[in-house]
Amino acid sequence: MTLLAEGTPVIVDCPESNDFKLRAEDLDAAITPKTKWLIFNSPSNPTGGAYSSHDELKALTDVLLKHSHVYVMTDDMYEHLVYDGFEYVTPAQVEPRLYDRTLTVNGVSKAYAMTGWRIGYAGGPKDLIKAMAKVQSQSTSNPCSISQAAAVEALNGDQSFLQERNAVFKQRRNLVVDMLNEAEGISCITPEGAFYVYPSCAGCIGKTTPPNSPNGGKVIESDEDFVTYLLESEGVACVHGEAFGLSPHFRISYATSTEALTEACKRIQRACAALQGEAKAA
Ligand SMILES: Cc1ncc(COP(=O)(O)O)c(C=O)c1O
Repeated sequence: MTLLAEGTPVIVDCPESNDFKLRAEDLDAAITPKTKWLIFNSPSNPTGGAYSSHDELKALTDVLLKHSHVYVMTDDMYEHLVYDGFEYVTPAQVEPRLYDRTLTVNGVSKAYAMTGWRIGYAGGPKDLIKAMAKVQSQSTSNPCSISQAAAVEALNGDQSFLQERNAVFKQRRNLVVDMLNEAEGISCITPEGAFYVYPSCAGCIGKTTPPNSPNGGKVIESDEDFVTYLLESEGVACVHGEAFGLSPHFRISYATSTEALTEACKRIQRACAALQGEAKAA
């Protein structure tokens, strides 16, 4: 999207050692006089990482305050999908002085499970929103009025189901994290939000697929090889970490039934146990 807008995307690492979160010093070091925007997403797709406290986010908003030419686009899509008493905060809430250069984007796809209705929305400086409306009106025209009405109902209606649904998501998250950590060569931290886990498969890299598997005798060289092995040998589909720029990991969405997740994790455990030889990292 940045390239399409003739910008230069700069990826700043959000390392596992920091629970997949951006560090203030790394953000500061990445900003140049040419920087236009920080694209910020918490809770995150693909890692589920979320900025859990006012202080944690304040470290980042302090950096942005210093660089007055940088706007922030905050993707708050998973704001309602948080667990363990987590208190959600968005950057302009932590630092109101950023309000005039914040574009907040959100949608009804995740919290309200309305992906197919195709409604996203944004709040930001008037001139920016006006310009966005101009571009949209001449490209996609508009989202259909039926979807708009449905989204208004979702946002204004009774929100109590969110808590009940989150309790189920939390159980599923814990189930998946526990079962993945029991799989040989896999380690998985517990994310605070969204509905994804982002386990490391470092302990499988360098091992060889079993001779009786569809692509038997192949060395697992990367997270892409690992997810291909899961797909071919057990019919389990995951997204490899390289697609998100952070290896050696893979992403699993737990927005599906407990039965399907249990079965998938059993198959992952079986596939990992069947790998032969030593991991490179070992
Ligand atoms: C962080 C984040 N923002 C935005 C979206 C876009 O959702 P949609 O295109 O369904 O509105 C997604 C979908 O995966 C997402 O994970």
